[in-house]
Amino acid sequence: MSTPAQGAALRVAVLISGRGSNLQALIDAIADGQLAADIVAVICNHSDAPGVERAEAAGLATYVAVRRDFASRAAHDEAMLRIAQEHGADLVVLAGFDRILSPAWTQAFPNRMINVHPSLLPAFAGGINPKPQADALAAGVKIAGCTVHIVTDDVDGGPIVAQAAVPVLPDDTVDTLANRILAQEHRLLPLVVQWFAEGCVRLENGRIVVPGVVPARWWSEV
Ligand code: GAR
Repeated sequence: MSTPAQGAALRVAVLISGRGSNLQALIDAIADGQLAADIVAVICNHSDAPGVERAEAAGLATYVAVRRDFASRAAHDEAMLRIAQEHGADLVVLAGFDRILSPAWTQAFPNRMINVHPSLLPAFAGGINPKPQADALAAGVKIAGCTVHIVTDDVDGGPIVAQAAVPVLPDDTVDTLANRILAQEHRLLPLVVQWFAEGCVRLENGRIVVPGVVPARWWSEV
């Protein structure tokens, strides 16, 4: 899945809607030599998102595509898709993107789109930060976390690539829990993108297998 051409770095398009801290984690991992990828485009659907500044500060090709500037939801979706395609993306990363994309995306990037979600899926699927974390807190779970999964047309239901767990502490607020989870997202997302860069993410019988990766080394910071 998503192996770059021999010797070429993985070309990644990142979609964001807000703060962009996961985008920053990818930028930093590339700068640190931990991630062999090129971010070829950053696409944001909100003009005032702080993540846009991060992308521009890093000198990345940055596009703001706001829904109201397009005649329809489909036209908006299509314009963003064209940007990712024109930049020759091998992999699309949804890093805090707050819209559900059309099936045209999953057709254009089959098994080549990933999303980071702030819960241990399949629990607390479907919401946007901070709802999944708030729901986990309200449910009284003792372990929470984040998931990086393949994007399919089943929202938050695609094959799980990796997860990281954190404890829920007795005095947690939504913010403290979300921040603890976010720190794990920043660790997990660059790692998963690196697996794609190495071409070692395989889909077997609907489940993701990453040969040679031992979950115990990365799954938890508890
Ligand atoms: C992250 O916590 C991410 O998991 C979540 O939005 C936040 C974005 O933060 N994504 C979702 O809720 C998707 N359902 P960031 O903009 O700082 O990366």
